[in-house]
Amino acid sequence: MSSRPYVIDQMISAKSIAARIEELCHEIHDEFEDTDKLVVVGLLRGSFVFIADLVRELDLPVEVDFLEASSYGDAMESSREVRIYKDLRGKIEGRDVLVVEDIVDTGHTLHHVTRFLQARNPARMKTIALLDKPSRREVDFSADWIGFSIPDEFVVGYGIDYAQRNRNLAYIGKVRFTDAD
Ligand code: IMP
Ligand code: MG
Repeated sequence: MSSRPYVIDQMISAKSIAARIEELCHEIHDEFEDTDKLVVVGLLRGSFVFIADLVRELDLPVEVDFLEASSYGDAMESSREVRIYKDLRGKIEGRDVLVVEDIVDTGHTLHHVTRFLQARNPARMKTIALLDKPSRREVDFSADWIGFSIPDEFVVGYGIDYAQRNRNLAYIGKVRFTDAD
């Protein structure tokens, strides 16, 4: 847990997020309009707000499932080792799957998770992340859809935490430490 004092500066407003989700849902709809069996898989815990807004904006029949994978502890640095803490409840073999993530940072998490799920032979699998930090990438991974590309800042809100806090902010904010020189 962090004991350093910090403030949160707004980076992306709730209104901008909602507008971007509307745009993304048009594209996702075009991709999956022929499906009658889309499984939307949220990566816990950071995607829980995003997936809730996404599925409500998406005018398609969906099932919702969750997977918990983590490369982060309560720290700000990736451990680079991705573990699956909770598997899906449902089967995805032969089904269309949309994996929903909060942030692509080093890329290790989605790289690992997509390989893990691909081994179950879904008919089609796409990925969406609300945020992308391309400058931090360590493995070659790009999501099919990205909400916003952001610089190398540590962000919180809209489901995303810092040491398990601030997930309930309606907007995305960046963490600014106030004890810095
Ligand atoms: P990756 O495996 O390095 O791509 O990390 C992805 C995960 O790291 C995300 O799902 C987040 O849980 C976490 N993460 C990356 N950047 C941030 C951040 O700025 N704030 C909070 N969590 C982050
Ligand atoms: Mg995460």
